[in-house]
Amino acid sequence: MITLEHLEKKYGDTFAVKNLSLSFPDASITALLGPSGCGKTTTLRMINRLIEPTTGRVLLDGQDAASLKPEALRRGIGYVIQQIGLFPHLSVAQNVATVPDLLGRDKSQTRKRVDELLALVGLEPKVYRDKRPSELSGGQAQRVGVARALAADPPILLMDEPFGALDPIARGEVQERFLNIQRELKKTVVIVSHDIDEALRMGDYVALMQAGELAQFGTPDDLVRRPASEFVRQFLGDDANLRQLAGVEVRRFVRAGDAGKLPRVEASTNTRTALALMLRAGSQGAAIWDGERLLGVVTFSDLTRAEAGGGSAQDVSSQDANAQEVSQVTARRASAEPTR
Ligand SMILES: Nc1ncnc2c1ncn2[C@@H]1O[C@H](COP(=O)(O)OP(=O)(O)O)[C@@H](O)[C@H]1O
Ligand SMILES: [Mg+2]
Repeated sequence: MITLEHLEKKYGDTFAVKNLSLSFPDASITALLGPSGCGKTTTLRMINRLIEPTTGRVLLDGQDAASLKPEALRRGIGYVIQQIGLFPHLSVAQNVATVPDLLGRDKSQTRKRVDELLALVGLEPKVYRDKRPSELSGGQAQRVGVARALAADPPILLMDEPFGALDPIARGEVQERFLNIQRELKKTVVIVSHDIDEALRMGDYVALMQAGELAQFGTPDDLVRRPASEFVRQFLGDDANLRQLAGVEVRRFVRAGDAGKLPRVEASTNTRTALALMLRAGSQGAAIWDGERLLGVVTFSDLTRAEAGGGSAQDVSSQDANAQEVSQVTARRASAEPTR
């Protein structure tokens, strides 16, 4: 577990990070969210000692990071940034193998591992291992960056706006790909983002920062439904419920029912888009298909009542006051903008 204890970083008279105490749970993704300049990058870089704190401590499994050699510490922590910094003169495979090679790991084992990692991030090894970074799209290069960070099998992964440079479609794909990887690898991940949708989608937990301090730590559901302050509420916005639904596949809300003439929606569609499709079709429900298989139906009221954090067709009866608000916002949004 990564624990920050009264962590501070001061530049001159101003605090970039102020009295920050926070634990990042193991085997989970925590999104470090907040407006530009609120201290996210500074916080992240204090964890792997690219920046030294002015005061306070970083504990890694109870051990003071200040007592560890920075180089050794960094080798045990994967680091992914937006400007992934692949070495242009090295092949994709050589780039991914950088740290294992540095650590003097067995070459043939590393080669095998590199191929596994490329496959894991969705890059066919045969096709991509010998390419140069210049031959990759932005999304592919970013996936190589993730593979490289995972190459030494570090228990901790720090990611600083890793997908920020990608267009929305490529970003969505890489996010999805990363979530699948995480389900398998269960690393302790801290992902910095100023993008609310990304934080709600990727984070098991969200730490929202405001001017160097912690505004709220909790699950996405906590922040959306139980904002700790006016800042949190405003930062997430009036459509926070909808944003959260955008990160949840509609398959979660499937129930048995008569698909009849209901419009067809793929199970992997995000719930917000599914709502918009129903609105456009003027339908109270949708038939949910997983490829060739009909899974069942979802109803408009189930979705608008749903708690994206834990809702399902079985417990949607646990309504709350937000339900009406969601459906109002949904109606407004759906008429105002095209679906994504
Ligand atoms: N090396 C530095 N010298 C002076 N001020 C800095 C330095 N690095 C960051 N800051 C300031 O600290 C604050 C937090 O920066 P940063 O952690 O990069 O924010 P974020 O990643 O949330 O956008 C900003 O106001 C920034 O201008
Ligand atoms: Mg930053």
